[in-house]
Amino acid sequence: MMLLIGCALLLQFSYNVSLFEAWKSTELLFVVKPLMTGGQRFLRRVVAGGSGDGGSINKTGKREWVMLVANVNDSHNRTSSSMLSKHSAQNNSQINSTLQPCPLVSPHLLGPIKLILDAPASLHEVEDGLEKIGALPAFAGHWQPSTCLSHDRVAIIIPFRNRDTHLCLFLLNMHPFLQRQLINYSIFVVEQAGQAPFNRAMLFNVGAVEAQKLSGPYDCYVFHDVDLLPEDDRNIYNCPQQPRHMAVAVNKFKYKLPYPTCFGGACALSQKHFEQVNGFSNMFWAWGGEDDEMSKRLTDHGLQISRYPEKIARYHMHKHAQQAINANRFNLLNTAPTRYDKDGLNSLKYTRLALHQNRSFTWMLVKLSGEPENFPQLRGE
Ligand SMILES: *[C@@H]1O[C@H](CO)[C@@H](O)[C@H](O)[C@H]1NC(C)=O
Ligand SMILES: *[C@@H]1O[C@H](CO)[C@@H](O)[C@H](O)[C@H]1NC(C)=O
Ligand SMILES: *[C@@H]1O[C@H](CO)[C@@H](O)[C@H](O)[C@H]1NC(C)=O
Ligand SMILES: *[C@@H]1O[C@H](CO)[C@@H](O)[C@H](O)[C@H]1NC(C)=O
Ligand SMILES: *[C@@H]1O[C@H](CO)[C@@H](O)[C@H](O)[C@H]1NC(C)=O
Ligand SMILES: *[C@@H]1O[C@H](CO)[C@@H](O)[C@H](O)[C@H]1NC(C)=O
Ligand SMILES: *[C@@H]1O[C@H](CO)[C@@H](O)[C@H](O)[C@H]1NC(C)=O
Repeated sequence: MMLLIGCALLLQFSYNVSLFEAWKSTELLFVVKPLMTGGQRFLRRVVAGGSGDGGSINKTGKREWVMLVANVNDSHNRTSSSMLSKHSAQNNSQINSTLQPCPLVSPHLLGPIKLILDAPASLHEVEDGLEKIGALPAFAGHWQPSTCLSHDRVAIIIPFRNRDTHLCLFLLNMHPFLQRQLINYSIFVVEQAGQAPFNRAMLFNVGAVEAQKLSGPYDCYVFHDVDLLPEDDRNIYNCPQQPRHMAVAVNKFKYKLPYPTCFGGACALSQKHFEQVNGFSNMFWAWGGEDDEMSKRLTDHGLQISRYPEKIARYHMHKHAQQAINANRFNLLNTAPTRYDKDGLNSLKYTRLALHQNRSFTWMLVKLSGEPENFPQLRGE
């Protein structure tokens, strides 16, 4: 039943508006993969969708489906066929401004992917490994397709402390993943200096601000935990129309969304919406609550959280010890609305202590302001 509705919608869109417009304007409706023969368009198989597959349910209770529609124009096909050559380490001046836009669905997608989970010995080994498969960026964890123009410029922000192995695995898996999606992206790793409790949300704010200063403009951010790896490359890391919660189905939670307002693990936000809500709260020290605060912040500003279906937005989370928990998180959450306009980007204070631009990522060490002196509400678990 859903399949028929999906096809009907698809056909309707292809007649009325360009597929690109359809894609941009509906936070996606149904996932289909086209078969291309002689310039004709066929639906080969429904790769996801159906009533059990998630999608997001908005306030009206209507399900919003994800639709990925390939741009079936032959010339686009030609443009993309030589993509991901061994020479991915191109430099910006080689990007020809007369290039055509990248196809909406990259022809390089594999669907479910086999993750690399064996820890590399060092970052050098990671970069050697990436170089061997032609996926090592030329500079600062920045890459863009050399034969087509990406639709969006995406800054991937990773808050970090003491997770070297996870970072190695992240870089090793994510560079080829993002390159197959033909995204113009840069990876920023933001490490919190000192011993104070970790402030994930504040590090996200810092990463976003620094990314724009260092190599912007970026159209959107993907805020991503270092211990999460996407298991399917149809989970596109492009800029969302509405804030996108990405880590929908995580192994740790038996591949089910834990609760409807969940916004944890990995999410994507346009620069416009990020500014509109004044970024993340800076007040959540230690584990928990900051993602729920953002979820609430977004919906309180009239935005809607979108999601890809559970079948696609699947993630592997590495096992690790539980961090110290912020026992004050529920109080902060309950009183959050009174602080949206004064706690966030406009109250962000930090000092950047160091910056290294390695080939596979940009790393910075930052000292956050406002660290709690003692933290009685913290407890280990
Ligand atoms: C919910 O989704 C439906 C169908 O996509 C749409 O028509 C409606 O406007 C959405 N509601 C809100 C509150 O955004
Ligand atoms: C693809 O686009 C070109 C140029 O816009 C156009 O001439 C051609 O007819 C299109 N092909 C198809 C199959 O739509
Ligand atoms: C599009 O590209 C794919 C992969 O390179 C190829 O198999 C297919 O035949 C091409 N389709 C057309 C219509 O040129
Ligand atoms: C970038 O590419 C251009 C054109 O190929 C070349 O002239 C220039 O030297 C390159 N710059 C770097 C830093 O590699
Ligand atoms: C860009 O592409 C056009 C058309 O293919 C070509 O004439 C031009 O020389 C290219 N410019 C660069 C810098 O490669
Ligand atoms: C890719 O994004 C970077 C960062 O915003 C930008 O400098 C660069 O021009 C973009 N490249 C293309 C081809 O849009
Ligand atoms: C990263 O960059 C810094 C500074 O440029 C350098 O000291 C360090 O060795 C690099 N690490 C790797 C693994 O390349």
